Formats: sequence, C-alpha cells, structure tokens
Amino acid sequence: MFETITALLQPWADYYAEHTTLSTAVLAAHLLAMFVGGGLAIGADRRLLLAEPGTPEAYRAAAADLQAQHGLVIASLVGIVVSGLALATADAETYLTSRIYWAKMGTFALLLLNGLRMRRTEAQLLRAVANTTELSVAGPQLTLPWGALRQSAGASFALWCVVLLLGVVVANS
Ligand code: HEM
Repeated sequence: MFETITALLQPWADYYAEHTTLSTAVLAAHLLAMFVGGGLAIGADRRLLLAEPGTPEAYRAAAADLQAQHGLVIASLVGIVVSGLALATADAETYLTSRIYWAKMGTFALLLLNGLRMRRTEAQLLRAVANTTELSVAGPQLTLPWGALRQSAGASFALWCVVLLLGVVVANS
C-alpha cells in the first residue's frame, strides 16, 4: 500500500526535485499563507483575550471583530493545505513515515476543529446579544458564551504556535 502510494507520487516527486523555481514557489506559498492566515488569526485572538466588554454592544463588537477575519483566514488555510500537500507528496517516503509530520497534522486538525467551535460560539454570542440589546449593561439576565469564546481564542493562539514549531522541526529533521 505504502509502496503503491510512493510509486504513484514518483513523477511529481521527480518533477519537483528537478525544478527549483517550483519548489521555491511552493515553499514560499506555504510560508506566506501561514504568515497571513496565522497572523490575522493570532491578532484577532489576542484582541479578544485582552477585551473586557461591559455592555452588550461591546460584546457584539468583540465577536464581530473575530468574525470579520474568517474569510481571509479560511482562504489562507486553503493555501496552506494545498501547498502543504504539494510539499508532503514531493517526498512522501520521508513525511508519511515521520512521527513529527503526523503530530503536526494532528495538531493542525485540532486547530481546524477549534476554529469550527469558535465560529459556532461567536454566532451564539451574536444571537444572544441581538436578543438582549435593550439591556443597558450585562446584567444577570445576560448569559453570553464569552468564557467559551475566550477559551477557543487561547487554544487557537497556542495551536498556531505549536503547528508552526512542528513545521520547522519536520523540515529540519
Ligand atoms: C495540511 C496542512 C499542512 C501540510 C500538509 C504541511 C506540510 C509541510 C511539509 C511537508 C513541510 C516540509 C517542507 C520542506 O521540505 O521544507 C512543511 C514545512 C513547514 N510548515 Fe507546513 N504543512 C501544513 C500546515 C502548516 C501550518 C498550519 C503551519 C503553520 C502554522 C505550517 C508551517 C510550516 C513551517 C513553518 C514549515 C517549515 C518551513 C521550512 O523551514 O522550510 N504548516 N509543511
């Protein structure tokens, strides 16, 4: 099975190895997409973690700021996955058998799952705020999933950093 996969990928591996411009472009695309997507995501996570909203409007603004980053972050994730797969399949024998590579993939999967949870929580928060705009200040009636959103932002920050570190280790091991 493993031999079949590597044999099928051999023409791509040979082509990639013989064309330095292509290999440079693929690695550059991987790092650029990571830089843009990770940078935007980490910036938004940090703003959310530092925010101390006291009114429904401030909660809404904090969740809306997070929501505004999703389009570009998702586009960058697509770029990361496509370029990452191009890198991995250019040397399948090395990567498919590397534990660090699989640890990176596992951490990346956690990052994606956390992103989905974050989108759900932020939509819940926005819905809850929309139903309570007449309240002046966060009172006992206002129960918002703020703690869960902060948890996801903290996890996102940490997971981006761990995937990046594992990426460097994979490339140099
Ligand atoms: C499906 C997702 C991904 C795949 C398949 C993938 C695959 C790879 C592979 C095979 C390499 C080794 C390239 C080489 O030979 O130099 C690599 C390098 C790297 N990746 Fe990823 N990656 C993915 C996602 C990510 C993410 C999300 C990040 C950042 C948070 C990331 C950051 C890096 C870094 C920093 C390097 C090191 C580049 C270098 O020093 O040459 N990767 N990736």
